[in-house]
Amino acid sequence: MYFSFKFSFCIILLINPILCYDPPPRMHHNSVIIDNRLLIFGGFISFTTSANDFFYLDLSNSFNNANISWNLIVEGSLPINTWLSTSIVSLDNSTIFLIGGYMRNESTLDYDFSKKVYTYDYNNFPSSKWTPPSITGDNIPSRQQIRGVIDNSGVVYIYSGLNTTVLTGEKFLGVMFNDMNIFNTISLTWSNLDISENRPLPTSDYSANILPSGIIVYIGGQEDTGGTNFTLTKMENIKLFDTKKLEWSYMNATGDAIDPRWLFTSVLTPDGYIIIFGGCTHDYTNVSFKFAVLDTNKSPYEWSIPDSSKSNLPPSIYGHSANLYYDYMIIAFGFNMDTQLYSSQVYLYNIKSNTWVKTFNPVEPAITTTFGPSTTNIILPAKKSSKTLAIGLSLGIGGAAIIIIFTATFIIFYKNKKNKTREGILIIAGSSEN
Ligand SMILES: *[C@@H]1O[C@H](CO)[C@@H](O)[C@H](O)[C@H]1NC(C)=O
Ligand SMILES: *[C@@H]1O[C@H](CO)[C@@H](O)[C@H](O)[C@H]1NC(C)=O
Ligand SMILES: *[C@@H]1O[C@H](CO)[C@@H](O)[C@H](O)[C@H]1NC(C)=O
Ligand SMILES: *[C@@H]1O[C@H](CO)[C@@H](O)[C@H](O)[C@H]1NC(C)=O
Ligand SMILES: *[C@@H]1O[C@H](CO)[C@@H](O)[C@H](O)[C@H]1NC(C)=O
Ligand SMILES: *[C@@H]1O[C@H](CO)[C@@H](O)[C@H](O)[C@H]1NC(C)=O
Ligand SMILES: *[C@@H]1O[C@H](CO)[C@@H](O)[C@H](O)[C@H]1NC(C)=O
Repeated sequence: MYFSFKFSFCIILLINPILCYDPPPRMHHNSVIIDNRLLIFGGFISFTTSANDFFYLDLSNSFNNANISWNLIVEGSLPINTWLSTSIVSLDNSTIFLIGGYMRNESTLDYDFSKKVYTYDYNNFPSSKWTPPSITGDNIPSRQQIRGVIDNSGVVYIYSGLNTTVLTGEKFLGVMFNDMNIFNTISLTWSNLDISENRPLPTSDYSANILPSGIIVYIGGQEDTGGTNFTLTKMENIKLFDTKKLEWSYMNATGDAIDPRWLFTSVLTPDGYIIIFGGCTHDYTNVSFKFAVLDTNKSPYEWSIPDSSKSNLPPSIYGHSANLYYDYMIIAFGFNMDTQLYSSQVYLYNIKSNTWVKTFNPVEPAITTTFGPSTTNIILPAKKSSKTLAIGLSLGIGGAAIIIIFTATFIIFYKNKKNKTREGILIIAGSSEN
């Protein structure tokens, strides 16, 4: 059986609903970090395939980016296939909120925007299921191509975004709005702020980071300037939203000139640098520079291309994810414009040494276990359960069980993996309605 080699180094613990996993390449997925897990869910694989899987990378162990061991959270599959949505973790790490984006029924693949928010109860990891919570307050608008941020009181801010009105084939048309939506993750209330003063142009596909001062920094993406098509925002034209005063302001950043872009990512370092990576032009071609740093400690903010970061640069990617975990910016998946293929690769940037690296070393020493030889990749149960029973099961009924699970996993997750090339280009253009 040709597929069994993928799993040959995995020992599967039957009492634990987590499996070794080889995730299909994808773009526009969601990613969050809770404790020492990088959790990934959803994304776009093709118009005929649902990416409703939920899986993670264990950040408590070292790994090399050429050999990543993903773990599938079997019970955590989403009831919907979603992409270009936004995901937020509650302040206490108990809940993951999935908000907006393109949503399709996982089994029929029909678009279904009836539920705007889903939650995952992380306290019951890995046996929770994604469910739509009940939210009070204003109407929740349906928006795609958004990015939310959470402040230190648990309030999520989501600016503008696209309301897709035409969803036929591969060309999506929509309208944008210039409203600010806020969602209180503690009281579960939604409000639509109507701030008319100094209001920015409707924007989508921007990056958003909240500074410790409570100011949200919006960079790039596409704006509705009133023309036939949307226009990419200049990277030096930065929008700022003060979450304390609920006021908009603008800044022209100085420094190195970088191409406008969308479908890129940003992370904020603890010392006030916003690191952006990837993205593309409106025609889905690569941008210069794909890697840049915005220093928010300077006034005005300043763009630069760090010299030391120029070697071992990853390929040009868009639709990837980026998360910061201690010293590492972790880039995952996306569409690789150099190969014109969807990617499942991980790239690591060390923000202390300012270099692209191949090896991830956990900050805290890896927990040593009594689970056997280090060459065996054992998936640890997430909660403390009977270790001896787990080993007994996996070794005792290993062969048959593994074949059954392989077959099931193969049927569920590999049936759609034949074609790694891009099957659909999301073309997003359109006009606005204010
Ligand atoms: C939540 O997880 C993050 C990511 O590891 C961690 O930095 C943070 O301390 C955690 N917060 C709580 C309240 O446990
Ligand atoms: C998806 O469609 C099926 C069949 O119509 C339906 O039974 C199911 O409830 C739908 N799922 C969601 C999450 O709405
Ligand atoms: C666009 O907005 C309309 C009106 O609020 C809503 O019915 C529709 O579902 C939205 N479309 C998408 C794709 O979100
Ligand atoms: C708008 O976009 C369409 C499709 O991408 C393109 O054919 C057309 O030339 C664009 N129009 C303008 C004014 O840029
Ligand atoms: C940014 O620069 C443009 C000219 O390029 C100017 O019109 C605008 O007022 C400037 N904005 C700010 C906030 O300084
Ligand atoms: C885009 O990629 C091609 C091929 O790798 C390269 O030759 C070109 O210089 C790149 N363009 C930009 C704007 O970086
Ligand atoms: C990949 O990692 C696994 C366990 O993490 C290890 O057993 C295996 O030897 C590694 N393979 C390569 C080619 O490094």
